[in-house]
Amino acid sequence: MKSPFKPTAGCQPPVLVGRNQDIENFRMAIEEGPGAPERLLFVTGARGIGKTVMLNALSHVVEEQRWVVVNETAARGFVSRIIKELEPAQQRKISYTLPSATFEVPFAGAQATVGLEQLQVDSSLESLDIRHAIANKLDQLDEDHQGVLITLDELGAESPMEEVRSFATAIQHLIREERNIAVVFAGIPGMVDDVINDKILTFLRRAERFHLRNVRNEDVWSAFERTISDNGKRADYDVLNALTLVTHGYPFMIQLVGHQAWRASESAGHETEITMEDAQLGIERARDRIGELVNGPAVDSLPAMARAYLMLMALDDGPSSTGELASRMRKTPQYASVYRARLIREDYIKPAGRGYVEFTMPFMREYLRQYAAFNQLEQNLEDMAMSIIEEASER
Ligand SMILES: Nc1ncnc2c1ncn2[C@@H]1O[C@H](COP(=O)(O)OP(=O)(O)OP(=O)(O)O)[C@@H](O)[C@H]1O
Ligand SMILES: [Mg+2]
Repeated sequence: MKSPFKPTAGCQPPVLVGRNQDIENFRMAIEEGPGAPERLLFVTGARGIGKTVMLNALSHVVEEQRWVVVNETAARGFVSRIIKELEPAQQRKISYTLPSATFEVPFAGAQATVGLEQLQVDSSLESLDIRHAIANKLDQLDEDHQGVLITLDELGAESPMEEVRSFATAIQHLIREERNIAVVFAGIPGMVDDVINDKILTFLRRAERFHLRNVRNEDVWSAFERTISDNGKRADYDVLNALTLVTHGYPFMIQLVGHQAWRASESAGHETEITMEDAQLGIERARDRIGELVNGPAVDSLPAMARAYLMLMALDDGPSSTGELASRMRKTPQYASVYRARLIREDYIKPAGRGYVEFTMPFMREYLRQYAAFNQLEQNLEDMAMSIIEEASER
């Protein structure tokens, strides 16, 4: 039997663990109508915590009410893509009158070429355009019951700011006009903050936030139990405990370890059971995969100093003293605290009692230790961190 677990980014898990409250709040905002706070929403959280899956779940909530849903990623051209999705029938052509010439472009926001000159269509025009596209769509609906939801995933420093401004300006107007819409953005907390600190986007700062965190062990345990038994196998109490503990409540790890344990049981010919041996084998494999799939990309996307901070934490076997970390960095506590704050904000680490921090993602310590071993055989973790710090300090 095929594994029911879904260890793939953006894939709906067999049991969505620990997100009922957020989904319920969103559902209520939809019922309450325009003006309800969760209708302008940011879903934030660490990599692999389940932001994309949450956007899917929120989309389902309104699809049940026959709303129109557009799911997009905040990458270049997203405004035109949303417009296209809302108005697929007519290939729209809009004329712009410029001091020198009148010409047509297929979509507002697209780049129009006039002779050799490239002209970027004004973002205020693009804003007007998306606003009209959404308003037109709403006009076609029974707006007392139906609305338009737009989700915009992976909002971050690389998102095209001009387009984000156009989009935000448009939805600000539609919200003010009390149209039946909801807009949900998703991204890593630090990246989202970088975007909404933009001067033009002040109104987004007041938006509601669902900050997704690790889920509770009890919920993970029952999700394993249910998924395994619903799909024709069983697992003992001890096996469920072992699988649960290794996840640290981290959603991606639930899928990974469940998937690997299931596979191990299939290979061993255990058709109706996941044994402790299967679970142990699955745990081992999941640990290796989490490094590659999550810890690696997460660490690589950090600035050098923050990376070094994590490496110096990995020298400890348990929570690290922040004072000790600063002295390992050979920096002042104030200097080190900038990186501590950033890492906490982005959920890489969390406070563990006064003056201590610990890792949030499962196996980050193990990953960093291996990373040092892999990448620089001649250097240990501490030396590696120090050379990163020296290099970054010189810049
Ligand atoms: N609440 C949950 N319960 C169980 N599994 C979940 C939950 N949320 C997400 N997952 C699983 O975790 C994995 C990662 O989910 P998702 O891609 O939504 O994360 P993300 O936060 O969008 O990550 P990224 O920052 O890389 O985009 C998927 O395999 C998904 O099935
Ligand atoms: Mg995602």
